[in-house]
Amino acid sequence: MVAFAAVAAMAEVVKIQLPLETAVYKAAPGVQLANGQCLTCHSADYAGMQPPKPRDFWKAEVDKMREKYGAPIPVDESEDLAAYFARNYGTETLERESTNAASPGVAMLPAAIDARALALKSGCLNCHGVDTKVVGPSYKDVAAKYRGKPDGQDRVAHQITRGGSGQWGQIPMPPFPQLAATELKALTQWILSQ
Ligand code: HEC
Ligand code: HEC
Repeated sequence: MVAFAAVAAMAEVVKIQLPLETAVYKAAPGVQLANGQCLTCHSADYAGMQPPKPRDFWKAEVDKMREKYGAPIPVDESEDLAAYFARNYGTETLERESTNAASPGVAMLPAAIDARALALKSGCLNCHGVDTKVVGPSYKDVAAKYRGKPDGQDRVAHQITRGGSGQWGQIPMPPFPQLAATELKALTQWILSQ
């Protein structure tokens, strides 16, 4: 809490900008509740730093926030919050529906990452079409550009984590440093296979 207090004090003079992804909880069913109850005292990083734990752990965690730290969380919301955190930051996964963009299991199961759903969830498809140029190039064009080039994987992965401009035009792509290595790999392979 010391670090938090220092940040809060600094916030009066400096506008603190949290990286987008850690400013809020992962988009999935139940996220409004989590954002409403679990961001008043600390960032979403606190949940992200926990190793995967079952629902019981998250239930106890929510109760601890209420009982030990005075979080004003209604008792009847504990179960829903525990379920959200167990699914998105814990060991539980929902039945994966490949058509469901927010499928919370995606990040937890490296072997079964649905790259298209991940691209949708991460906002990639706001700027890229598979077949059509939007703000950025179509993924078919990206795949064509790197076809037969051994450094394709590295170049694409680099672009995703670091962002940047100048390869397709002057509009910059924002960086996505928060993607897990497995997610980055899945996205890269999916794009290059278009
Ligand atoms: C009233 C303030 C408050 C609210 C609201 C709050 N927390 Fe916390 N949380 C704390 C404090 C204080 C700590 C201990 C921080 C420290 O050690 O720096 C903490 C720590 C944590 C930790 C780290 C592990 C631990 O037990 O110390 C997790 C995970 C966590 N909170 C999750 C949540 C979740 C999930 C919610 C919403 C259900 C939530 N918090 C809401 C105050 C709060
Ligand atoms: C705000 C719009 C925007 C978002 C969101 C976005 N991109 Fe981009 N992307 C761009 C632009 C613009 C370019 C072209 C950059 C350039 O000219 O160098 C680009 C380029 C690329 C390239 C081509 C790299 C190369 O080496 O030619 C890949 C691959 C890519 N984006 C993947 C992604 C992925 C994956 C995501 C989601 C994690 C994503 N983009 C999200 C706008 C975006």
